[in-house]
This record gives sequence, C-alpha cells and structure tokens, in this order.
Amino acid sequence: MKILMVCLGNICRSPLAEGILKAKVSSDIYVDSAGTAGYHVGELPDKRSVMVAQKYGIDITDQRSRKFSVADFDHFDRIYAMDESNYQTIVSLARNKEEADKVTMILQELFPKEKLSVPDPYYGGDQGFENVYNMLDEACEIIASKINTNER
Ligand code: 4NP
Repeated sequence: MKILMVCLGNICRSPLAEGILKAKVSSDIYVDSAGTAGYHVGELPDKRSVMVAQKYGIDITDQRSRKFSVADFDHFDRIYAMDESNYQTIVSLARNKEEADKVTMILQELFPKEKLSVPDPYYGGDQGFENVYNMLDEACEIIASKINTNER
C-alpha cells in the first residue's frame, strides 16, 4: 500500500500528514507527500510544522518539498488532497477514471458527506498549525485503523 499526501507548497500541511500517518502505520506502508505548486521544491518543511510535529514526538526534518507529478498516479494507491483546490488540480491531471478515483479530500475520512478543507496555515500564526495538526491527527487515525483492518 502506497499513500500520497498532497497540499499546495508541500511545506506546511502535507508534510504533517505524512509524518503523522507514518507514525500510526507499520513500515511496510509507504507514505509520501507532494505539492501541486513548485514554489518550495527542495526545502525543509516550514519551521512551524516542524515545531508542532516535534511537540507531539514526530520528526519531519527528513522531508524535502517536491512537486506532484502525473507519474505519482502510477506509484500510489491513494492520494489525499488537503483542500478542494488541491483536489481539483490533482483530478484534472488524472488520465482516466481509475486514477481520478484514487484522489479524495483527507477530511472526508472524518466527515464523509462534507467537502471540508484543511485550512492553509501558511500566512497565519502558530495556532493555525496546532489546529491543522489536530485535524490531520484525527483523519490519519481513521486512515490507519482502516489500513490495519484492511478496510477501504
Ligand atoms: P502548504 O502551505 O500548501 O500547506 O504547504 C503553503 C505553503 C506555501 C505557500 C502556500 C501554502 N506559498 O504560497 O508559498
């Protein structure tokens, strides 16, 4: 099983989602992250994401930002978008329905009937990163428990 977390810059939200999910699943589950934009390619996660992860015992400083690529559809079984804009961008790159069906918004794990976005914390303060961490922790808990019991 290979899972990709995607946001815009791959420095704030999806690096947290990657680190949180990795901490909840066994190492035979491959978890990675990417951004739909290339503004920060090669950079470490945002310091505020590094700090909030560290606060909860997760080290994300091995990560470097990369841009989402169409080839990711070949390598990943599931692609979780952080917000509706990322979702639309990724789906627009899918070459067929099977690829498009790999993509969901991550908060649909928590609220299946709604299309809630993980808010972009980039221009806000530390509390935004704390909120994002908590949302992603809840969503990843559900993803991990389904993986561990072989449910979709
Ligand atoms: P992310 O946050 O998509 O959660 O990594 C952002 C990071 C950078 C920018 C926007 C959002 N930016 O415009 O540079």
